[in-house]
Amino acid sequence: MLSPRFFDYIKARQELVNKALNYYVPLLQDFSARVTEAMHYSLFAGGKRLRPILLLAAAEAVGGKPEDYLPAACALECIHTYSLIHDDLPAMDDDDLRRGRPTCHKAFDEATAILAGDGLLTLAFELLAHPDLRARVSAGRLLEVIYLVAKAAGIEGMVGGQMADLLAEGRPVSAEELDFIHQHKTASLITASVVAGGVLAGASEAQQQALKTYGKAIGRAFQIVDDLLDILGDEKIIGKPVGSDLAKGKATYPRLFGLEASKQKARELVTRALESLQLFDEKADPLRDIAHYVVERTL
Ligand code: IPE
Ligand code: IPE
Ligand code: MG
Ligand code: MG
Ligand code: MG
Repeated sequence: MLSPRFFDYIKARQELVNKALNYYVPLLQDFSARVTEAMHYSLFAGGKRLRPILLLAAAEAVGGKPEDYLPAACALECIHTYSLIHDDLPAMDDDDLRRGRPTCHKAFDEATAILAGDGLLTLAFELLAHPDLRARVSAGRLLEVIYLVAKAAGIEGMVGGQMADLLAEGRPVSAEELDFIHQHKTASLITASVVAGGVLAGASEAQQQALKTYGKAIGRAFQIVDDLLDILGDEKIIGKPVGSDLAKGKATYPRLFGLEASKQKARELVTRALESLQLFDEKADPLRDIAHYVVERTL
């Protein structure tokens, strides 16, 4: 069970990430101001900050200081927020509510939402090569992180998963296809967040492998729970429409396996995630707590 201490930890980390995002994501005052306004609108609408928190927790697990890696943590949140803005567009999931507010294209317009996503994605790679990060991490490690994040966000990861998700709408899918979708659209970036944190802080090969297994397992569990919350969640809490997947004929875990088997699968994945952390000491306890949180969350 999650302790109040864990929620204090998450709150403190959210505040750290939010402060860094405010610092690293500019609000321009020139003729382009509108695009940065839209980026801020979506970024500061109250996301959980799971991916940056995972990056910082993984760095901590291998003995790093979280404060040293904030530009990288912000980069992961920028990529994630871009993916949400584009995911909500009429051409994709066509949703009107996100993080408790009208979606970016509703609050602004479609062109601005597309550009805000483009701006966030590009800024992410600027942040991964930021002088503040270069002052603390070797160029070799940074290049490794840029490579793994790009791969996870792109066609072999999230973009590929989003394509497969759209192609699967409104028709039956196999368990194999559904796992491909979950693995790519969601678990990929979550895994990259965890592994990036480890690499930045100097994780050994064995530690990197363990972090990868952990990330994949919680990433898959996270999307199963996301599918469950689309049915069982409270719109006021999750801040996005309930029943959207059903309305769109999305391929989801509950649709294929039912509610109970989906919950069971998510719990199994969390057990696998915890097992993969056996070679770490108590510095990995936040990662352990986050694994529990992934299945217990209501948001
Ligand atoms: C929602 O992600 C989209 C998925 C990949 C399932 P989150 O549930 O992490 O959304 P925020 O960042 O808290 O809004
Ligand atoms: C989205 O999956 C995964 C992304 C890469 C954005 P969903 O479409 O299920 O995410 P929500 O439910 O809209 O947040
Ligand atoms: Mg989607
Ligand atoms: Mg969606
Ligand atoms: Mg969803």
